Amino acid sequence: MNILILGSGGREHAFAWKIAQSPLCSNIFVAPGNAGTAQIANNLPIGYNDFEQIAAAVLAHHIDLVVVGPEEPLVKGVRDYFASRADLSHVLMVGPDSKGAMLEGSKDFSKNFMVKYGVPTAKSQTFTKDTLAEGLAYLAAQKLPIVLKADGLAAGKGVIIAQTLEEAQTSLTEMLVDAKFGDASSKVVIEEFLTGIELSVFVLTDGVSYKILPEAKDYKRIGEADTGLNTGGMGAVSPVPFATEKFMHLVEENVVKPTLKGLQAEGIKYNGFIFIGLMNHEGEPYVIEYNARMGDPETEVVLPRIESDLLTLLLATAKGELEQAEFTVSKQHAVTTVVVAGGYPGDYRKGDVIVGYEAIEDATIFHAGTKLDGDLVVTNGGRVMALTGVSNTLERAIQKSQKAAQGVLFDGKYYRKDIGLDVLRYS
Ligand code: AMP
Ligand code: GLY
Repeated sequence: MNILILGSGGREHAFAWKIAQSPLCSNIFVAPGNAGTAQIANNLPIGYNDFEQIAAAVLAHHIDLVVVGPEEPLVKGVRDYFASRADLSHVLMVGPDSKGAMLEGSKDFSKNFMVKYGVPTAKSQTFTKDTLAEGLAYLAAQKLPIVLKADGLAAGKGVIIAQTLEEAQTSLTEMLVDAKFGDASSKVVIEEFLTGIELSVFVLTDGVSYKILPEAKDYKRIGEADTGLNTGGMGAVSPVPFATEKFMHLVEENVVKPTLKGLQAEGIKYNGFIFIGLMNHEGEPYVIEYNARMGDPETEVVLPRIESDLLTLLLATAKGELEQAEFTVSKQHAVTTVVVAGGYPGDYRKGDVIVGYEAIEDATIFHAGTKLDGDLVVTNGGRVMALTGVSNTLERAIQKSQKAAQGVLFDGKYYRKDIGLDVLRYS
């Protein structure tokens, strides 16, 4: 069968890599893909938000299954678009419709959803420009620090953790009145600050049945010891030692089951991934956020630990047959280190030639911001490659990933040398 993956990052390369291992797979297409997906699939020069072109490619290449990587096409309704076209009714898709994607696309929607269906989350209230005065007064009555979240998609930048009342009130005004995050901050969720350890849990669901995929911890800050600016993600590890059996049982009972019940009660037919960002607060899971897709770079450590045929699982997800699908996870440790362009997450250069990675032996290379320039592979984004090491021990997996990150060479390259070390101390 033929598969089309939408997206161009390390996550999409990892999807292609894992799907290519399936005996059911004939051809993989990626739109638009990168230099890594070009080695194992056919890249199509189509943007992932261009639904008409995507539909044309699906028909031209006899695509049976579409796997949506990023959130934007989901929130914009790629599934709804396919459902609206009779000539695409035979095409299967992994990824929720726009209503399901609201779990990620609107923080206000997702908070109301959590409260309505009893999913543990931080106490919050939502304000708009018209209720700015109430918002400022609300802030004055809260404990510090306090969290302000732009309601809509803001490419991971829409969250402010204010340490003082003045900072909180200024931020709220900037978000609501000066449209600091554009339309995304026309509503702002003000949320209690939760202390604890963060981890992410991934659920694959057909709307009724579900499989809980391996959990992961990511490293969001650019600097070592979690300092500096937020990024898309500088590395990830799986498993996470503080995701004990007891804690994961609480996640399943208190978070996963009520979330699925809520989706059903709202009449949302959800076929896809739910990425649940959690805080382990005094041993209890609290939901920080939902995403309607897999994480990047979390996918680069989650998929290498899934032993079952991913394509079979994805087909079962799309068809509503997940209950029967076989699903096993390896006990091995996976660690990924992301090499980024100098300057990222600020301004960075593109077009630098990448060498050295051909000699990497002990790790899997997932391309992210790369493209082909003739025969050369050049940088084409902030996050350039994710290097995943897998081993029986966390220590060895870290070493493999780090050695590979060292081996990738281009001008201005940077990577964090402490990925997984905090977890190693914990375990
Ligand atoms: P989000 O975009 O919702 O993932 O938020 C970005 C980051 O802000 C999270 O990964 C947390 O580290 C932090 N954060 C968000 N909400 C809270 C909260 N209620 N309490 C503490 N930290 C939070
Ligand atoms: N690594 C975080 C995300 O994919 O949202």
